[in-house]
Amino acid sequence: MKSRTVLTGITTTGTPHLGNYVGAIKPCIAASHDEDVQSYYFLADYHALVKNQDPERMRRSTLEIAATWLALGLDTERAVFYRQSDVPEIQELTWILSCSTAKGLMNRAHAYKAAVQENIDAGEDPDYAITMGLFGYPVLMAADILMFNSTHVPVGRDQVQHLEMARDIAQRFNHHYGELFALPEAVVDEHVAVLPGRDGRKMSKSYDNTIPLWLPEKQLRKAILRVVTNSLEPGEPKNPDDSALYAIYAAFATPQQRTEMRQAYADGIAWGEAKQLTFELIDRELGPARSRYAALMAEPARIEEVLLDGARKARAWATPFLARIRNAVGIRRLS
Ligand code: TRP
Repeated sequence: MKSRTVLTGITTTGTPHLGNYVGAIKPCIAASHDEDVQSYYFLADYHALVKNQDPERMRRSTLEIAATWLALGLDTERAVFYRQSDVPEIQELTWILSCSTAKGLMNRAHAYKAAVQENIDAGEDPDYAITMGLFGYPVLMAADILMFNSTHVPVGRDQVQHLEMARDIAQRFNHHYGELFALPEAVVDEHVAVLPGRDGRKMSKSYDNTIPLWLPEKQLRKAILRVVTNSLEPGEPKNPDDSALYAIYAAFATPQQRTEMRQAYADGIAWGEAKQLTFELIDRELGPARSRYAALMAEPARIEEVLLDGARKARAWATPFLARIRNAVGIRRLS
């Protein structure tokens, strides 16, 4: 028995960017090599459906994200890597949990509240364009987590409330039907820097400031050249701690490289040169994976096979566990 069960989901909206890589993909792949951990990583396509109703974009994003994780070296022998929609037990559990989850708990979800507030501010009906999918999103996420008795769930800060809700949902269920679920804990890594985007704000699709992970070399260089800097001239000392460019560099650098670069900033390195060094560092790290990514993208059937294999492993646990859950709530054979 492994001492920890780590699980996290990746919503399949959009194209992976450097922020996703540094903040989630890289640490998760590193953890997948840890002997002591059972890890589950999955493509949350049913979560993506809440935001993305463009079928071609759905398919494309699922393919790109799966290819990304595989190209970067996820150990699929050790980690269970699957697509949420290939594990129907999760949907069934979602309904079962929905039936003991207070509507009031969902009313308090930040994402839902923000959507309502936006409507009110715009003078719209508070429910305008709010789907049941958006409202019930945290229950589906709780089902993802509880289905595998996850103990540790690495997430961004914006997801911490969803983890608290998953614990609430698990506790209420356990209290009523008996101890079936482990209580999961959010793992928010303080050391993993929040990567700034080209404009210095957090790199995020919603700010439109991302640098895609798989840009060809030339375009990656151009993108780094466009990161905003201030107007200090070569020779003038620069402060790494208020520089988006330095933060991006630091996310890819070893401690020693960081120390050296800080010194270079203090010594007045030209922005152009700092950008070139930043580009080279990132390109060196991503270069080999970039060709593996291209090869995988050209062979979706291979990726499909890997995902189906992952789903088989996930279901080997989920099917009997769901049978116990159904039994616990009284959905049973009559004879
Ligand atoms: N909601 C998460 C996000 O937007 C993705 C997600 C779905 C997830 N299910 C999960 C994360 C279960 C952790 C565990 O980032």
